Amino acid sequence: MAKKKKMKLKKSVIYTFLIIVVIGVIGTIYGKQKYDEYKYKKTIEYKLIEKGWTKEQALELQKLYKDHINDILKRRTNENLIKIAKEKYFLYKNLDDYLEYIKENDDKSLTDVVAIINTHANNDWYSLDYDTDTSLNERLIVNKFYHLNEDYAPDDIVNISNKYAYDNNKMRQIAYDAFKDLWDNAYSDGIKLIINSSYRDYDKQLKIYEDYKNWYGQIKADQQAARPGYSEHQTGLAIDVFSTDNQLTGSFQESEGYKWLKDNAYKYGFIERYPEGKQYITGYEFESWHWRYVGIEAASVIHNENITYDEYYAYYIEK
Ligand code: DAL
Ligand code: ZN
Repeated sequence: MAKKKKMKLKKSVIYTFLIIVVIGVIGTIYGKQKYDEYKYKKTIEYKLIEKGWTKEQALELQKLYKDHINDILKRRTNENLIKIAKEKYFLYKNLDDYLEYIKENDDKSLTDVVAIINTHANNDWYSLDYDTDTSLNERLIVNKFYHLNEDYAPDDIVNISNKYAYDNNKMRQIAYDAFKDLWDNAYSDGIKLIINSSYRDYDKQLKIYEDYKNWYGQIKADQQAARPGYSEHQTGLAIDVFSTDNQLTGSFQESEGYKWLKDNAYKYGFIERYPEGKQYITGYEFESWHWRYVGIEAASVIHNENITYDEYYAYYIEK
């Protein structure tokens, strides 16, 4: 009898214990779920979804805007926020300008939007006026927004031998050394290059620009010649180069010399500065003869990525 009672007692102790364990386990699971939910609600992903983004978009945004996600959280949902940030040359500092520009130019590709905003080309030419940073040496930029002072003159200007140029041509030593190398290699490939214009000081550029204006009127002049202070020729790093088989601005682009330069000039640090179809970025009509020394590293990137110097400068230097 006493034994039976003891057994019963043991059993009820075990049951009670089991019930407590089960309640404990369920409680822990429930608590953990609640805690996880609480934690999730604090995540950026949850906050983005609350704003109206899908889960997939929320994940993309977090990747694309790693360092600026709190700013994105403050913005209204707009698919362009994702699309524009996927562009290769996207710069976060320009985000508002991209979005504003898209609103007014929905016919433009996003690649163009980024290129135009990065290079300031959404502004009227010459309407912004930055002093260019000449300490960048051969990587300085000169265009319709970045100018050189009237008295700027590089200090390593040298005469170019008649082997490479017509009379009275000068350029910077650093670019000349590279050009001689380029010339020799072109020559061994059967191409004889000849420089017909190179370093031009402010006054010489003023004269050229005024001549163009008198001949063609201001609009046409501005598409072909830089205003004084805004010409790359004042840097001593730019050359107008033709080949003996074709020295015509109207058709040099069809010559073997141009083809050779297109394929090889970057290896010596030279780039085509005003390519065909890029006037909306460079501000100038296609100039197959105008080549600019920027150094081999920059020239290789520009050649491989098929971008203008203006885009290169905005993305890789100015940032
Ligand atoms: N023709 C180029 C743009 C210049 O005048 O510098
Ligand atoms: Zn030129």
